[in-house]
Amino acid sequence: MKENVGDCDARAMRSSQNGQQASQDQELAGRFRNAMRRLSAGVAVVCCADEGGPVGLTATSVTSLSMDPPSLLVCINRTASLRGSLAINKPFSVNLLGRQHAEVSNAFGGAVRGEDKFRFGDWEISTSGIPILTDAIARIESVVDLEVEYASHTIFVGRVTRCISDITGDPLIYADGKYV
Ligand SMILES: Cc1cc2nc3c(=O)[nH]c(=O)nc-3n(C[C@H](O)[C@H](O)[C@H](O)COP(=O)(O)O)c2cc1C
Repeated sequence: MKENVGDCDARAMRSSQNGQQASQDQELAGRFRNAMRRLSAGVAVVCCADEGGPVGLTATSVTSLSMDPPSLLVCINRTASLRGSLAINKPFSVNLLGRQHAEVSNAFGGAVRGEDKFRFGDWEISTSGIPILTDAIARIESVVDLEVEYASHTIFVGRVTRCISDITGDPLIYADGKYV
């Protein structure tokens, strides 16, 4: 079928508008990334166990959700190995890192893969079968109560089952792309 000049012009305009929109979206994402670098965050290692062994990653997206019932949330990238290991009713641990744990954070934050991550830090297995960092400034055990998919991430809501924060020390804080 023959296209007339008007159709070609409309297509070219749509394609140019899509291109402009894509570059505006990219620019906004870049500005948002830079803005969020200004938000100081405590650092945690979130862990669970599956048939293959212990699994964990470094996360700054841990947030207290409610005291009734005690609950928290954490946002996990869908590409992270932990994502596939977490499911409704599965137990997981949130280990809040102290200032001395930068190496642990790096190992679980992408520098080391798989079970070798657990060579960094002093880990034990809790009664619910999940890894716990013995000298974390707080160790919080939860079970997954809800999971919500949003874009690149899954938001997991955990109902807290056990909580220990008996070790004093400064928290590890991440801001502007570094530990402060
Ligand atoms: C300080 C810091 C904070 C991070 N916070 C998160 C987070 O909240 N959620 C997330 O999915 N990944 C986060 N990451 C990235 C993961 O820890 C990283 O991609 C990890 O390698 C994923 O585990 P995997 O390699 O076993 O898939 C963070 C990394 C660092 C260094």
